[in-house]
Amino acid sequence: MKSDCKALAAATTELFKAKFHIHPTTVAYAPGRVNLIGEHVDYSGGFVLPIAICRGTAAAGVLTRDGLLTAVSSAFAGETIEVPMAQIRPGGATGWSSYVAGVVAQYRDTLPPGAGVRMLLNSTVPLGSGLSSSAALEVSTAMLVRGLCGDVGAADSGVAVACRRAEHEYAGVPCGIMDQYISCMGRKGHALLIDCHSERHELVSIPPGVSFVVADCGVRHALGSSEYPMRRAACERALAKIVNALGPRPSLRRCRVEDIEASGLDGMDAACARHAVEESARTRAFAAAARNEDLERCGALMAASHASLRDLYRVSCPELDALVEFAARQAGVFGARMTGGGFGGCIVAMCKDEAASDITARLMAEGGSPKAFSTGPCAGAWAVRADI
Ligand code: GLA
Repeated sequence: MKSDCKALAAATTELFKAKFHIHPTTVAYAPGRVNLIGEHVDYSGGFVLPIAICRGTAAAGVLTRDGLLTAVSSAFAGETIEVPMAQIRPGGATGWSSYVAGVVAQYRDTLPPGAGVRMLLNSTVPLGSGLSSSAALEVSTAMLVRGLCGDVGAADSGVAVACRRAEHEYAGVPCGIMDQYISCMGRKGHALLIDCHSERHELVSIPPGVSFVVADCGVRHALGSSEYPMRRAACERALAKIVNALGPRPSLRRCRVEDIEASGLDGMDAACARHAVEESARTRAFAAAARNEDLERCGALMAASHASLRDLYRVSCPELDALVEFAARQAGVFGARMTGGGFGGCIVAMCKDEAASDITARLMAEGGSPKAFSTGPCAGAWAVRADI
């Protein structure tokens, strides 16, 4: 049987042919992600520990001579965008097309003069549930455009940086590097311990016999999009105040909890800074525990991470809290927490392999999750020449 990503790429090739009546010359794939621990610390230079999941986005395409970006998304009922390449600019598109146009703009100068791109996108990442459907969209687009210029193979971290720039400038979301980085650099059987200050990573092998169950809590509070930049701003204010009071520090993760008190920080900014400092330490501790196959310790760190996101950083919601509590009570679960930006979306539970399918079923039947699935860590993005 073909792997999930190869099957999706093949199906996307067929959809492209049916839509445009020509063969695509390149097909690309980029996975979504689930973050095991290290939440809301990527934009303050902390440590994160995501895995790429077995759901992703595929893009099939050709270069044209019409000077247009033509993109069709099967995820949005076959909606099409068509824009002259030369006219792609920040603010010129909205919704999913702003992500695609923004990424194509990053690679515009590498295309032959006067060229256009015709592409079709197809995804198995549930939209808007905190599993990085937008990073999968961005990275698959980037890999396709690079592939169309002859650069096929695996992704590198430069692709992640270009996609984050596109998200900042074209979609207006001040995200960190985590989602794009793991979508590019994911490795089968491993989580990535990403140092978001240096933007480098170490591989952390996931012990044998462990699975991850991802469950949607069924809500997505609109609040998330306005609160995210507020949390980021709180972290920036906190670092500025600590630096002002105590001297230079490159990022919040180089600060200690005592620095927060000594600098006179209080209220929301102090709470956010404390979360950032402690969450980075928890992430390193989780990586060490995973390497020692100490799964109980990993689970306890996930529980502490969730409590901090709920009480200090305040990005959880009652639906996520209830699902985390339900998951943590199930036999075979080491630990559970919210994952991603919060205010709804998904939880992740780390569990014994043999319990994963039962836990998945119970989260849906009794836990109230409309959608749950289990995944191991998968490989990152790639592009290949399509079979023609
Ligand atoms: C979103 C952002 C990431 C990260 C997470 C929270 O997924 O895109 O950069 O900040 O939220 O950890």
